[in-house]
Amino acid sequence: MKKTGSLHARKRHRLAAARTVLATAVGFGGIAVAFAFGGEFPSKVPVPANNPMTPPKISLGKQLFFDPRLSLTGDVSCETCHNVMGNGSDGLPLSFGVLGRVDTPRHAPSVFNAAFNTVQFWDGRADSLEAQAKGPILNHVEMGMPNAADLVKRLQEIPGYRDEFRKVFGDKDPITFDHVVEAIATYERTLVTPNSPYDRYIKGDKAALSSSAIEGMKTIRSFGCESCHAGPMFDNPGTPMGTGWFQKFPVQPHNPVCAKYVQKYHLMDDPGRFDVTHKAADMHVFKVPGWRNVALEAPYFQNGSVRTLQTAVRVMAACQLGLTVTDKQVNDIVSFLDSLTGKFPKETMPILPETPNTTIMMNVSRLQQDAVKSEKK
Ligand code: HEC
Ligand code: HEC
Repeated sequence: MKKTGSLHARKRHRLAAARTVLATAVGFGGIAVAFAFGGEFPSKVPVPANNPMTPPKISLGKQLFFDPRLSLTGDVSCETCHNVMGNGSDGLPLSFGVLGRVDTPRHAPSVFNAAFNTVQFWDGRADSLEAQAKGPILNHVEMGMPNAADLVKRLQEIPGYRDEFRKVFGDKDPITFDHVVEAIATYERTLVTPNSPYDRYIKGDKAALSSSAIEGMKTIRSFGCESCHAGPMFDNPGTPMGTGWFQKFPVQPHNPVCAKYVQKYHLMDDPGRFDVTHKAADMHVFKVPGWRNVALEAPYFQNGSVRTLQTAVRVMAACQLGLTVTDKQVNDIVSFLDSLTGKFPKETMPILPETPNTTIMMNVSRLQQDAVKSEKK
């Protein structure tokens, strides 16, 4: 009897918490929906019909991902900021780009499981991995190529790439900016991490989660975190690919506990999705990030300002749900989040095609001048 009572109480608490969110969350239209909590890691990665995965395309994409010649100065690759021998990020609050620049405006998220994101970037400004990959190559603080034509020209000077692009994309105009990002996105779709303790637990291995993790899962559910962190990746309630699941952060900036965090961690400096849509309602709205491997994603939040997962959980509880949490609740929640670390694929370094008897890096200073000029415009 007592058990049922407390269950009801928990449910009421959860609904109340969820309602607070529903009332304040952006993009809801006030519809109260109960979202699925979690779910097993998807067995298949979503692949767009116009960019099928093939082994030669994966291999080419992997080379391009690791190749620093895709950057202005020839020393920054995707791998520089998204280390796939590690967690798929660089573990820094903000990243180092070309010319030693440290002014990437946001923290680099992991590329592992990015294939499941319905949109890319913290503000969701790219609707696919293909669209996303164009960003850093031409971004003047990341890889700094002045334009797509210079990138294509540089790749055309590498005989091995000429052959490989032809094999993957055919003889007619094989090296294009679109083909570069199609290959990179295809490689990224192999960067998935199934088989976490949580996945084993929901498949029936009840010993896969510690009692603290199970308690944490219950606490998360009673708090209503899944009103935003829903579904198998804990990032959306089944939102279609390319659409994005966005929420305001912080929802409750005037909650006294949250207000302290806002000040300490500069949580309201970034306008978020407002930068993309210029709509007032999108001020401080962000893509809800997933929880898969979140234990390895420190530092946390869009500006990488929070060092530990414990603090990130406290910030979320205060700023999104208006809740003050006990140390035990935080530790249990973190135990559960820890159980979402999956099995990483073994990554080996690719062999990059060379330019025998010559170098293609002689024109760097000219490109650098062009980059500075175009930045001034
Ligand atoms: C100088 C560091 C740097 C380099 C180089 C870089 N990135 Fe990133 N990456 C970032 C940062 C910072 C963000 C977040 C930017 C934002 O959200 O506004 C990001 C975001 C992403 C995302 C979105 C992930 C998500 O969860 O939203 C993907 C995917 C990604 N990068 C892949 C790549 C690929 C592919 C390359 C090479 C073509 C690349 N990056 C090069 C720093 C870098
Ligand atoms: C109203 C929606 C909402 C609710 C409720 C919510 N979150 Fe979040 N969560 C977000 C958004 C949006 C972000 C990204 C914020 C940013 O960095 O800009 C985020 C980020 C996070 C992060 C950091 C991820 C990273 O990679 O940096 C963690 C951890 C997290 N949430 C855990 C939780 C927990 C635990 C709860 C429940 C106590 C919760 N969240 C409740 C929307 C929500």
